[in-house]
Amino acid sequence: MTYEEARTLIEQTLPEKRFIHTLGVVETAERLALKYGENVEQARLAAMLHDYAKYIDREEMRRVVVDEPLDPLLLEFDDELLHAPVGAVLLDRAYDLDAAVVSAIKNHTTGEPGMSRLDQIIFVADAIEPNRNYPGVERLRETADASLEEAVVATLRQTIHHLLNKSVRIFPLTIETYNYFVNTP
Ligand SMILES: [Fe+2]
Ligand SMILES: [Fe+2]
Repeated sequence: MTYEEARTLIEQTLPEKRFIHTLGVVETAERLALKYGENVEQARLAAMLHDYAKYIDREEMRRVVVDEPLDPLLLEFDDELLHAPVGAVLLDRAYDLDAAVVSAIKNHTTGEPGMSRLDQIIFVADAIEPNRNYPGVERLRETADASLEEAVVATLRQTIHHLLNKSVRIFPLTIETYNYFVNTP
């Protein structure tokens, strides 16, 4: 699948606000890939596709989790967690995509222990793209310019803080990813 094909698909699939967010992730992922010496084409493609499943009906997403099968624990947590792994599965089924791109889409919400540099770039770019506006985002952008791994940890820290403040459950993979990266030199 080419970048242009992906762009056409996503522009037709996502509402305008989410498409604008996606363009921000593309721009940021491209910049980070250049900075950290990763494959720019894969970064642009994964960024363009990362939220593909964001607006798919939740029952359909839960069916994909059961049919594939994906981690059944996903069904016990917030539905917001589904769009990343489900999007990766649906796109992988329908299009010819590099495994590295599919992985970056799959891991963009929770991360994964040991995830690749490309995965890290999409994970961080999603949190810091120019349209994001929340307390601490400027600091996160500075961290991303200094160290990709530190930006992964800082992004996870802020996600976990946010979930703690909302008094909601935290998906174990989010904690496992934090534990993996927090003391990795
Ligand atoms: Fe997402
Ligand atoms: Fe996103």
